[in-house]
Amino acid sequence: VYANQKEASLAVAARIAKLIRGKQAAGQQTVLGLATGVTPIGVYAELIRLHKEEGLSFKDVVTFNLDEYYPMKPDAAQSYVTFMNENLFDHIDIDKALVHIPDGTLAQDDVAAFCLDYERQIEELGGLDLQLLGIGRTGHIGFNEPGSAPNSGTRLVTLDDLTRRDASRDFGGKENVPTKAITMGVGTIFKAREIILMAWSAKKAPIVQKAVEGEISGEVPATFLQLSDSVEFVLDQGAASDLT
Ligand code: F6R
Repeated sequence: VYANQKEASLAVAARIAKLIRGKQAAGQQTVLGLATGVTPIGVYAELIRLHKEEGLSFKDVVTFNLDEYYPMKPDAAQSYVTFMNENLFDHIDIDKALVHIPDGTLAQDDVAAFCLDYERQIEELGGLDLQLLGIGRTGHIGFNEPGSAPNSGTRLVTLDDLTRRDASRDFGGKENVPTKAITMGVGTIFKAREIILMAWSAKKAPIVQKAVEGEISGEVPATFLQLSDSVEFVLDQGAASDLT
């Protein structure tokens, strides 16, 4: 638990930079699982600063984003492709050929094969070194909404009503928020060697409390993280304020 979001974000960015530099020294690629939303923006801003001011290179970093709305055109303002470009990728030296984000333009019949291939690509690279997560007020990680299974893989899911309400500002009304998304599964996330879930502000305190201290259940998918030894929650004072 950090004093504030800024300090926490700097600490997470420093860990990512250390991981990347360590792998570079060993001549290896780093495979990162990335999240969108407001939570990781400070981490990405610090990674950009480390690139511009401290020579951190992303040339041999491979990324897999957790999720994308479905359907969604990559050049739409609300797409996670646009989000990642604006908040990170356009400001660093990453090879865009090594960036992976679920494809929101697929025909529904092609989604299952795409999802299997997403998993296969992660596995072929030796798995995710580190997965960044936020948490939704439904307890979702990625877009694994209540009802998700602990061994679920990358798939097309239906978004919870609360998730669509929380996204409504970005879309100018809930009715404009897609009803579906493609997301990595809980099982996909679990395979990462390190998992960092970040949450800021008292708005997240009730769901953080359930995720950390509540009964493990598919009703709050983030509770599955209690079963992993590789998970760390990075919180500010507000998000930690309901923990006993
Ligand atoms: C985003 C994602 C979601 C968000 C969560 C919190 O890629 O997978 O699980 O992390 O909805 O969103 P923010 O950070 O906007 O509160």
